[in-house]
Amino acid sequence: MRPLIIANWKANPQRLTDAVRLASATEKNVRGLRNVEVVVAPPFPFLERASGVIKRVGLGSQDLFWKDGPYTGEVTAHMLKNLGVRYAIIGHSERRMYARETDEMVRKKITAALEASIIPVLCVGERERAGNDIPAILGEELTASLRTISRQHVSRLVIAYEPIWSISTMPGAQPDTADNAFRVMVYIRRKLTERYGRRVADKMRIIYGGSVTEANVRSFIDDGKMGGALVGGASLVPQRFARIVKEASRANR
Ligand code: PGA
Repeated sequence: MRPLIIANWKANPQRLTDAVRLASATEKNVRGLRNVEVVVAPPFPFLERASGVIKRVGLGSQDLFWKDGPYTGEVTAHMLKNLGVRYAIIGHSERRMYARETDEMVRKKITAALEASIIPVLCVGERERAGNDIPAILGEELTASLRTISRQHVSRLVIAYEPIWSISTMPGAQPDTADNAFRVMVYIRRKLTERYGRRVADKMRIIYGGSVTEANVRSFIDDGKMGGALVGGASLVPQRFARIVKEASRANR
């Protein structure tokens, strides 16, 4: 399967004109690259105009709400689907931290995304570096967020392993090693296999996020056997993001 590279712009930029410029530069830079799937996830107010300038690049959202109706301030899966959103990042650590999102909320969001035919990108990750042990929180987050998700639906899901300590805006952040990412990938796939069986688990994409750059993306894919990357900071600089996508397109898959 082609590597999947998702640009998570987070709460950037502040103006629509800058967002449109960033989306069109991204589109232009990656248009000619094959063997890689590229998605941009702009903030909600920019989705519609960004979607107007991308074609080769898919549209993603950074969140969604699980129900339509009287929920002030929320943006629903159906609204997003109707705008052309294909992927939704769900349960990012910043949402868990600043918006107090729980595994139960994450689970409802995954269900809503799947019902609206949006591919959920479920983020899991530990807060602190855990040495050689696989952090227990990963298993807990996976089990709780997927509790009611059926085998039939789950194969469409993407799992993003994002160790929180490696996110570029965290103090002292460093990317994870490809070796560790590999061990975690194996662990996540084993958990998925236990729950859903080998055939389904093998089909699911597991990607890595946290200080991904043009210098390390290939090792996460080639050595870490990750199915792609979730890119924050570096996705705001079109030339850097283009280099990341280019590197991913050359990975040995
Ligand atoms: P980063 O962010 O690439 O800036 O580390 C990744 C993320 O939080 O999705």
